[in-house]
Amino acid sequence: LKVVVLISGAGSNLRALLEALRASAASGSPIGAEVVAIGADTQAAGLALAEEFRIPSFVVRPKDFPDREAWGEELLAQIRRFEPDLTLLSGFMRLVPPAVVDALAPRLLNTHPAYLPEFPGARAVRDALEAGVAETGASIIIVDNGVDTGPIIDRVRIPVLPGDTEELLHARIKVAERRLLEDTVRGVASGEIALEERATA
Ligand code: GRF
Repeated sequence: LKVVVLISGAGSNLRALLEALRASAASGSPIGAEVVAIGADTQAAGLALAEEFRIPSFVVRPKDFPDREAWGEELLAQIRRFEPDLTLLSGFMRLVPPAVVDALAPRLLNTHPAYLPEFPGARAVRDALEAGVAETGASIIIVDNGVDTGPIIDRVRIPVLPGDTEELLHARIKVAERRLLEDTVRGVASGEIALEERATA
């Protein structure tokens, strides 16, 4: 399974996936996937991962384009260069333009640090803390043209603990997101997860 991953930030979830793929290749149960390119919306810190793991990378910055559609066209063209079977958003903090979603979905997934449909949007962890809930979660969904509204592939509950800060809670959630990422990539690679079916379910 050829995978392109898009990031905006530190790419710690991407690092975890790359390490899991590397470990699995050496183990008896390979995940059967390969990250063929890493894309970013700016010169993200995570692009150092591309050098470290010797993976091609590309940067498509919104500010270099007159509008979202033009940015989306270039983003899609860059992704298509690598002919991925699956595109993952991992800490990609932009809304993907509709033309890109329509071209790639349902083989376009995103992890979100909440138990969707609870707490969609870019401040999910802070919103959960401020809501005072006893538990939140992590989710992996098929991207659609809404904000974190696509079909849920999997999700897990994560407790909010006394004294949690946004950083502490997010770190705990990310551990779960990494598990969701790895399990879902494994499932898509093996055929256990048929995204075309999930998308219309
Ligand atoms: C993840 O929690 C992701 O769900 C959210 O941003 C975080 C990405 O962190 N959108 P990183 O860039 O992988 O460290």
